Amino acid sequence: MQVINVCRLCYGIKSCVVRPLACLFISTCTMAKSKFEYVRNFEVDDTCLRNCYIVVRLDGRNFHKFSEQHKFTKPNDNRALGLMARSAQSVMEDLEDIIIAYGQSDEFSFVFKRTTNWFKRRASKLMTHVTSQFSSSYVFYWKEFFGEQPLLYPPGFDGRVVLYPSNRNLKDYLSWRQADCHINNLYNTVFWTLVQKGGLTTVQAEDRLKHDESLFKQTKGVNGERKDVHVTRSRRSVQAYHCDIIGEEFWQQHANILEDDGC
Ligand code: GTP
Ligand code: MG
Repeated sequence: MQVINVCRLCYGIKSCVVRPLACLFISTCTMAKSKFEYVRNFEVDDTCLRNCYIVVRLDGRNFHKFSEQHKFTKPNDNRALGLMARSAQSVMEDLEDIIIAYGQSDEFSFVFKRTTNWFKRRASKLMTHVTSQFSSSYVFYWKEFFGEQPLLYPPGFDGRVVLYPSNRNLKDYLSWRQADCHINNLYNTVFWTLVQKGGLTTVQAEDRLKHDESLFKQTKGVNGERKDVHVTRSRRSVQAYHCDIIGEEFWQQHANILEDDGC
C-alpha cells in the first residue's frame, strides 16, 4: 500500500493548516480502497480459447409478442428482416474483426476471426458490445423501415458466445442455423396459407400440421433458394447476400472468409 504524503489542497506549502488533516484523509482513502479491493477477485476470467472462431448469437426477446404488437406480416415481414440486416451491418461496420454474419427471424450470428484479439478475447465484452450495438441500431433505424408506424416499446436482445475450433465446425454451425430457418419458413408458410387462404382457424392449422411434422424434418439440408438474410464483411465494406450457405459453392466463391485449416 502506498500512502500519498503530498497534501492535495496545498501541495506542500509549509504553513498549511489543513495539511495533517488532508494527509490523514488521503491515507484513509487508500486504506479503504485496499480493504474493499479484494472484491475484484470475484470477477472470473472469461477469455475465449485461442485459435477458435468466436460466434456471438443474439436473439430477440419475446418477439412473438413484439411482432404481433408491431403488426409484422406473416410469415415473413420484409421490413423487419431489412431492419435486422441493417442493424447487423452497423455491427459489422463499427466493431472489429467480424468476418461473416448470418441472420434469420429475430436472431443473428456474428463470427469473429480466429485470431482476433479484440478486448483480449473476453467473452462478456464481445457479447455485450455486439448486442448493445445491434439493439441501439435496431431502434435507430426503425423509422427507415417502418416509416410512421411507431416503435411501441424498447426491444431487447439476448446474447451468447460459442466457440468453434475448426472450419468444418463453423460451417456446420451456420448450416444448422440456415436449415433451422428453412424448416421454420416452410412450416410458417404452409401454416399461414392454411389460415389466410384455406379458411382454417390457427388451432385447426396447427392440428393439421402436427400430422405432417415429418415432412418438415425430412427437408433438413435441402438446397434451394433462400429468403433469409446474411451479411459478409470484407475490410470495412459490408455486402448483403441472400443465398445458400449449406452447400460448398458459397465458401468456394468466398474463400477469403475462412483461414485454411485443412477441415
Ligand atoms: P424468446 O426468444 O425466448 O424470448 O421468445 P420469442 O418470442 O422471441 O421466440 P423465438 O425467438 O423462438 O421466435 C421468434 C418469433 O418472432 C417467431 O416465433 C415469430 O413469432 C416472430 N417473428 C420473427 N420474424 C417474424 C416475421 O417476419 N413475421 C412475423 N409475423 N413474426 C416474426
Ligand atoms: Mg426470440
